Amino acid sequence: MSINFVALAACDPQGVIGKEGRLPWHYPEELAHFRASTIGHVMLMGYSTYVSMPERAFEGRVAIVFTRSRRVRKCENIFQVSGLEDLMQLYETNPQFLEKIQWVIGGAEIFDLFFNNGLVQTAIMTYIKKFYEGDTFFPLHHLEHWPKEAIRETADFYIVRHGL
Ligand SMILES: NC(=O)c1ccc[n+]([C@@H]2O[C@H](COP(=O)([O-])OP(=O)(O)OC[C@H]3O[C@@H](n4cnc5c(N)ncnc54)[C@H](OP(=O)(O)O)[C@@H]3O)[C@@H](O)[C@H]2O)c1
Repeated sequence: MSINFVALAACDPQGVIGKEGRLPWHYPEELAHFRASTIGHVMLMGYSTYVSMPERAFEGRVAIVFTRSRRVRKCENIFQVSGLEDLMQLYETNPQFLEKIQWVIGGAEIFDLFFNNGLVQTAIMTYIKKFYEGDTFFPLHHLEHWPKEAIRETADFYIVRHGL
């Protein structure tokens, strides 16, 4: 089965994506871009990202949460998997998920998992112009030799499409 997983992330110029379990910034226009991209589709995330997101961020979307040991809340659009093999089994029982975009939304552990297994062919990156302190980073080296296309620029960030 060939699935096009698309990474979706916002990072500062040094690749910072998070600090102490949260986003280091608040840019409403960036959140609107996240919502417009993911609404009606599937979001794949790690447990730490799952607990960091407000409940409204799950509305109108399917969420698949990676965790080896914890339980996500019972909700018809939230699923949990223990790894990539388990994810493929979830797709077998829910083939309708594959009619949607598979957005890999982080955090760093989940970006590493998908990039290191060669599963991501496209990344839609928001590059925040300001520098922030952080403790979690996007693995930018994976995108170094990929073709890229500018999508949009605002006063605070650029949106760039990498890959396919
Ligand atoms: N700027 C952005 O675009 C962006 C996007 C997303 C997140 N973030 C930020 O990034 C930070 C969170 O990232 P993070 O790297 O610390 O955590 P994460 O990737 O969100 O979640 C890590 C957790 O995922 C589970 N996990 C990881 N690999 C797994 C595997 N192979 N199989 C099954 N489960 C697996 C484990 O959960 P268990 O311990 O439960 O097993 C692990 O503790 C937060 O600050 C968040 O705000 C930023």
